[in-house]
Amino acid sequence: MSTGPLQLRGRVLKLDRVGDYQHLTLVAPGVAERTRPGAFVALAVGGDHSATLLRRAFSIYRAKASGVYGGTVEIVFAVHGPGTAWLADRRPHDEIDVIGPLGRPFALPKEPVPCVLVGGGYGSAPLFGLADRLRERGCSVHMVLGAASESRLFGTVQAKRSAQSVVVTTEDGSVGTPGRATDVLPDLLARTNAAVVYACGPMGMLSAIAALAEQHGVWSQCAVEEQMACGVGVCMTCVLPVRGDDGVVRMVRSCVEGPVFRGDRVLWADAGTIPAGTLGAPRVGGHA
Ligand SMILES: Cc1cc2nc3c(=O)[nH]c(=O)nc-3n(C[C@H](O)[C@H](O)[C@H](O)COP(=O)(O)OP(=O)(O)OC[C@H]3O[C@@H](n4cnc5c(N)ncnc54)[C@H](O)[C@@H]3O)c2cc1C
Ligand code: FES
Repeated sequence: MSTGPLQLRGRVLKLDRVGDYQHLTLVAPGVAERTRPGAFVALAVGGDHSATLLRRAFSIYRAKASGVYGGTVEIVFAVHGPGTAWLADRRPHDEIDVIGPLGRPFALPKEPVPCVLVGGGYGSAPLFGLADRLRERGCSVHMVLGAASESRLFGTVQAKRSAQSVVVTTEDGSVGTPGRATDVLPDLLARTNAAVVYACGPMGMLSAIAALAEQHGVWSQCAVEEQMACGVGVCMTCVLPVRGDDGVVRMVRSCVEGPVFRGDRVLWADAGTIPAGTLGAPRVGGHA
């Protein structure tokens, strides 16, 4: 069976509200079978005659290969602008053009090692499928779910089934430990003797997690949610400076080479720029 992405007309099966988020289930046969944790889908928004040409990217929360209606793919999203507002207005049986699964998934450890999974807001969505795969390999799974407030957490009940231990943090202290997910991470990494930390959430959180992991001698795998336009590698909107195995920094596309990156390889502080010394960047003070 081919493992590449498919483009098809997905059909809305369900759209439910969960806290501040929308949980969309799409019938999308073939996409689920190809999905691995960390992959995403790019959805066309606005309908067939819309002027909104750019697709919107969403992490795959759950993918079920079979069922009464055929394979389904689930996403969890926050209404942000016109594209997500249009999605939140869909009704069962409506069609949405889907491309997926896209991107490189999370790398899994070869050994049954302790793993810490950190999700910021809806960033926890791709971590549940990952937790299943890790447990199948004999890894112990510990989760941290962090958000600004209780209504912006996703998956706290499911986390208790998915992980051996769960820590919830909210910045306003409405539930769990007051503060940020990164505040509780050093203690958790030490207590669980973690070998890998997996993270998905805003760039600031990922940058802090990558730094903490490095300080503790732990591998990190970070799923970025960079601005994307085409989602399939042709427009270069989503590039990030990343150091390769050869030590050279390149601008790499987070839709194709990511969205999951080794945390210690991303030049987090330089995201959104082309840092000096990047392969192909103009030489400072050079001549044409
Ligand atoms: C890999 C990945 C996974 C994601 N997963 C989730 C998720 O699980 N849940 C969730 O809620 N959100 C997720 N997001 C964020 C989600 O894609 C955005 O919230 C969504 O695109 C917002 O669309 P909008 O029309 O509502 O908002 P707007 O802000 O109006 O539109 C954002 C979109 O416009 C385009 N755009 C805007 N500015 C530019 C620019 N300067 N250059 C090029 N294009 C531009 C891009 O296509 C961008 O995605 C993810 C993003 C990525 C990249
Ligand atoms: S979004 Fe177009 S190249 Fe990545």
